[in-house]
Amino acid sequence: MAEPLRIALAGLGTVGAGLIRLIQANGDLIARRAGRPLEIVAVSARDRNKDRGVDLSGFAWEDDMTAMAQRQDVDVVVELVGGSDGPALTLARNTLASGKALVTANKAMIAHHGLALAASAEAQGVALKFEAAVAGGIPVIKGLREGAAANEIERIYGILNGTCNYILSTMEDTGRDFGDVLKEAQELGYAEADPTFDVEGIDAAHKLSILAAIAFGAKIDFASVETEGIARLRAADIEQAAALGYVIRLIGIADTETGAKGEDTLFQRVCPYLVPRDHPLANVGGPTNAVVAEGNFSGRLLFQGAGAGDGPTASAVAADLIDIARGEIGMPFSVPVGALEAMPRADAGHRVARDYLRFMVADRPGVLAEIAAAMRDAGVSIESLIQRGRPEEGGEVMVSLVTHEGPEAHVDRALELLEGSPSLTEPPLVMQLLES
Ligand SMILES: NC(=O)c1ccc[n+]([C@@H]2O[C@H](COP(=O)([O-])OP(=O)(O)OC[C@H]3O[C@@H](n4cnc5c(N)ncnc54)[C@H](OP(=O)(O)O)[C@@H]3O)[C@@H](O)[C@H]2O)c1
Repeated sequence: MAEPLRIALAGLGTVGAGLIRLIQANGDLIARRAGRPLEIVAVSARDRNKDRGVDLSGFAWEDDMTAMAQRQDVDVVVELVGGSDGPALTLARNTLASGKALVTANKAMIAHHGLALAASAEAQGVALKFEAAVAGGIPVIKGLREGAAANEIERIYGILNGTCNYILSTMEDTGRDFGDVLKEAQELGYAEADPTFDVEGIDAAHKLSILAAIAFGAKIDFASVETEGIARLRAADIEQAAALGYVIRLIGIADTETGAKGEDTLFQRVCPYLVPRDHPLANVGGPTNAVVAEGNFSGRLLFQGAGAGDGPTASAVAADLIDIARGEIGMPFSVPVGALEAMPRADAGHRVARDYLRFMVADRPGVLAEIAAAMRDAGVSIESLIQRGRPEEGGEVMVSLVTHEGPEAHVDRALELLEGSPSLTEPPLVMQLLES
């Protein structure tokens, strides 16, 4: 058997400890498939004395994880610490600069610094791999980079955050409100104590920007992802969507289009969508993730599975390590960094869609007419308008409507016309209907 691939592991939390368990359990099988064993040489975390449920006695301990980049007895550093900057980024930069391969599950770091890290990896001729950064255990990056490599990807979209999907599907199943379900998700360990990154859509936006770069050969552009989370959703929205034949899912969606000057532009959006019940994504419940890629020859590809958790995420990290053990360096973003295209943000105003709009309004006459007039004046055609019979707490009434297909700019205009209206007790909520 050839020499082992020698690994330094930074981060011994959920994923790091999971990776140790996986290598211990499946080491022989991995060695046969990779042609050589994976051997963890050194580990690092903050607290040396914490019981992590795994035996660390066979590994060297580094107090300063950034020192791992300099170890002579290591071929590859695995960064499972997290955070877009700080020690994780220092370790990543030092690792690549010292000519070692880097494997990471850190979507925040790749979304913000992926291009610079990839350029450094390419300059050094070493691997930078981050399969676990997008959709946990689902091999979607491999699927795009290898399985679908011959296709032009027309659109990529999916459920990229398990916490939001768990909350939405639980709201759907139980009729409970967002805050209540979030609290339970935190108690069950499906949501972080600070859930902002998840429920505001930022985590999904990190992943979408990585997928879009790979799918479209675009320079990664996290700052241009239009992002809206799920915190404003009410149980009544979910009920209303169900009555219309839809479920609500937080979807990340990206495609390219030709801009006004003939240039390629990139559309990236994360927000809650109404998904028709017969769409494959409608049946993705709980913390599961799913990604749809539409290739011009492959047709619709659906990747589905566990988007987080120790086992699934460690599985994706180990798959990257197996590639490196086999000598596969590859391009982090499929093509050399210099060949990635800088695509400006697409102008969404002319894109056509059907929308669900929800208004919380004062319970008094004339409000419906005011909303209908704003829609008419902005050129929005209403397909159905529903006023819930009973007032909510505080005497508010929920009015929701579904539009016919029309440009997004028209809906934006209607909302501008209604801005500041004393009839509205909170800003309207707008969600698009995803087509089947
Ligand atoms: N959890 C998942 O299901 C999942 C899924 C996909 C991707 N990811 C990504 O995987 C990465 C790790 O996630 P995780 O859930 O495993 O996190 P975690 O459970 O919080 O573990 C983080 C680890 O990093 C260590 N650490 C933190 N700051 C450090 C520092 N300054 N120096 C040295 N060690 C430090 C911690 O040490 P102590 O244990 O001593 O505190 C801990 O062992 C993140 O980038 C995350 O986004 C996670």
